[in-house]
Amino acid sequence: SQPLRLGIAGLGTVGVGVVRIIRQHAELLTARSGRDISISAVSARSKNKDRGIPLDAYAWEDDPVALATRDDVDVFVELMGGSDGPAKAATEAALAAGKHVITANKALLALHGQALAEQAEAANLSLRYEAAVAGGIPVVKALTEGLAANEITRVMGVMNGSCNYILTRMEDSGLNYQDIFAEADGLGYLEADPQLDVGGIDAAHKLAILASIAFGTRVNFDAIDLEGIERVSIEDITAAADMGYKIKLLGVAQMTGRGLEQRMQPCLVPASSPLGQLQGGTNMVVLEGHAVEQVVLRGPGAGEGPTASAVMADVMDIARGFALPVFGQPAHTLKDAKHATSVLP
Ligand code: NAP
Ligand code: HSE
Repeated sequence: SQPLRLGIAGLGTVGVGVVRIIRQHAELLTARSGRDISISAVSARSKNKDRGIPLDAYAWEDDPVALATRDDVDVFVELMGGSDGPAKAATEAALAAGKHVITANKALLALHGQALAEQAEAANLSLRYEAAVAGGIPVVKALTEGLAANEITRVMGVMNGSCNYILTRMEDSGLNYQDIFAEADGLGYLEADPQLDVGGIDAAHKLAILASIAFGTRVNFDAIDLEGIERVSIEDITAAADMGYKIKLLGVAQMTGRGLEQRMQPCLVPASSPLGQLQGGTNMVVLEGHAVEQVVLRGPGAGEGPTASAVMADVMDIARGFALPVFGQPAHTLKDAKHATSVLP
């Protein structure tokens, strides 16, 4: 059969990871997906940057839209980031040109997921985004495939590794928020706009996507009760520890009698619980369904290897010919949820 030909826009942490897996594990990918996977062309802002991997074999496009619409591209892989601008323009152009799309971009999906899903499904194309939620943890596949027969009752978890790193470093060091924020920023752990992390926005993007899949509702980022970790002080953390608790930036989405409740806020969790013991940049997602009861997924929420692993799982699904509605059911059947303001215990 013909190889599945990729066009990759974005050669940063994730893009380089994807190229590396394709170069180093071609045989395994072909054996498991039944098809060769090749890269036709790549794009980034700077052509001459040394990215630590050879790129000469691939055509170069300065313009992501030109890349997304090339004749020799079957799947457009969007790894640039940003909820608007080139990521949105190139994704829309790719779908209009009949290309499947894979993205790691939770901001794009949280804000424009419904329109993009409708565009993809109308054209019988895949739009897949396993890497967008909890990095290397296959939580989108768990909800859309493994737990597809369940009425989901609750989705919750720690979905931003940077915040979990800051909170656990504060616990371990006794230093205050400002010091540890500066440390995390210096280590390159935070987004270019750190407010996306510490303001809880990145985690809320992920929760909005999961809630849509879980409850068959249109993604509604604006309905999330959102508070970041900037106001968590070392005194809060010490007082919580004295009572046997940890403070975690916890996302919860659940269907209540009052409607869909979505919140992303610092919460007290028992120190001895699996969530309480979550260290550093690790993520944990808890999925509850009427039949399965509870499934807990834990793993790396970011980084080159884990995130590229999730992107490649989507590539291989498309290579195998798997077709799945974007949010687990056809986009036009998703309902607008009645949104309930959370009542904290
Ligand atoms: P990154 O390291 O900042 O890389 C972004 C890449 O996009 C760079 O190669 C950059 O080019 C390129 N780019 C930016 N604007 C562009 C434009 N206008 N035209 C062409 N190329 C452009 O980002 P990343 O960490 O790999 O993240 C990529 C996506 O994955 C984001 O949506 C992010 O939220 C998501 N994600 C990341 C992680 C993670 O662990 N990093 C985990 C989950 C999801 P230059 O290199 O030339 O500047
Ligand atoms: N900034 C994000 C985090 C990257 O810390 O979890 C992965 O989405």
